[in-house]
Amino acid sequence: MSPTISYRDLEIMTKIIAGNSSKKLAHGLSEYLGMEYLDAQIERFADQELRVQLAKHMHKDDAIIVQSTCKPANEHLMELLLLVDAAKRAGAREVTALIPYFGYSRQDRASYEWGPVSARLVATLLEASGVDHIITLDLHSHETEGFFKIGVQNIDPIPLFAAAVKKSANLVVVSPDVGGFMRAKRLAESLDADLATINKSRSKHNQCQMDSIIGEVTGRDCLIVDDIADTGETICKAAALLKDNGALKVDAIVTHPVLSGDAVHKLDNAPLGQIITTNSIEQGALPAKFTVVDIIPVIAGAMGCFPRA
Ligand code: R5P
Repeated sequence: MSPTISYRDLEIMTKIIAGNSSKKLAHGLSEYLGMEYLDAQIERFADQELRVQLAKHMHKDDAIIVQSTCKPANEHLMELLLLVDAAKRAGAREVTALIPYFGYSRQDRASYEWGPVSARLVATLLEASGVDHIITLDLHSHETEGFFKIGVQNIDPIPLFAAAVKKSANLVVVSPDVGGFMRAKRLAESLDADLATINKSRSKHNQCQMDSIIGEVTGRDCLIVDDIADTGETICKAAALLKDNGALKVDAIVTHPVLSGDAVHKLDNAPLGQIITTNSIEQGALPAKFTVVDIIPVIAGAMGCFPRA
C-alpha cells in the first residue's frame, strides 16, 4: 500500500516574520510576494530582557525572518536570535534570516590588539540559534560570509544603483577608501565610467582623515560609492576633498543608511548633490537630496521568488 501523502507534504508555505527594525520591509515583501505575514510579539520584562512569541504554530512551514541589525544593534541582534529560536521551536521547517543590513560586519578581522573578531562571533551566534540560511545585502566584506558554515547569499546592489544613475562621459566613480575599491570598480564598469580612490585612514574611532586621491577628478562629475554612512564623516570628507580638487559636482551612493547622531544634518550640509541610498534600514523623512531605492525586488529576485500576479 502506498503511503498517504498529505497536502502539506506537497506544498511548503513560507511565512514572513519581522523584528522591530524591519517591519515596513517585511510587510512590503509579504505584499510583493503574496506570502503570509506572521505577527511576532516582542515585549520586555522589567529588567529589559526580551520576551518573544509568534502568533501561531508554524506547522512545518518555512520562515523568513526580516531584521536589519542596525541601531540599536545589540537589541536588534538579540531579537533576531530569539525570533529564529522561536520559529524553530514553533515547528518551522527551514528558517532564513533576511538581514538587509548586517551589523558588526565592519569588525571582520582582528584590527587591533586584544580585541574580538566580532563579525565571526555574530555568525556563530546566528548559527547556534538554528538559522538555516542567511540573505543579506552588500556585506562590508566577503570575510563575513566565510565565518558561516550555512549558506549566505550576499546580494550585490550594484545593478540596482547602476539603473538609478544617469550615465555620462564626464562621470568618475570614487571609492572613499581602498577597502571599497572593488564595489566602486563594479559600479564604474556598469556605468562605463572612470574610477578614482581616496586614501582614507583612521587614527581615532569614528573619525577619519583623507589626504590624497588616486585618479583624475578635476572638472569631473564625481559619484562616491560606499556601503555604509554611519557618522557621515567618510562621505562628507570625501565630498569636500573632491571639491577641493576641482570636482565639478559630487553625488553619493550608500547602500546602508545607518545615519547615527547628526549624520543626516551633516550630509545635508555637505557639498553633495544627490545621495542615493536604500531602505535596508528604515528611516523617517529624509531631506530632499536623498533618493531611497527600494530593495524588495532585488531581494525577491535573489530568493528566486516573483511578485504576485
Ligand atoms: C568603512 O570602511 C565603511 O565602508 C564606511 O566607509 C564607514 O563605515 C562609514 O562610516 P562613517 O559614516 O562613520 O564615516
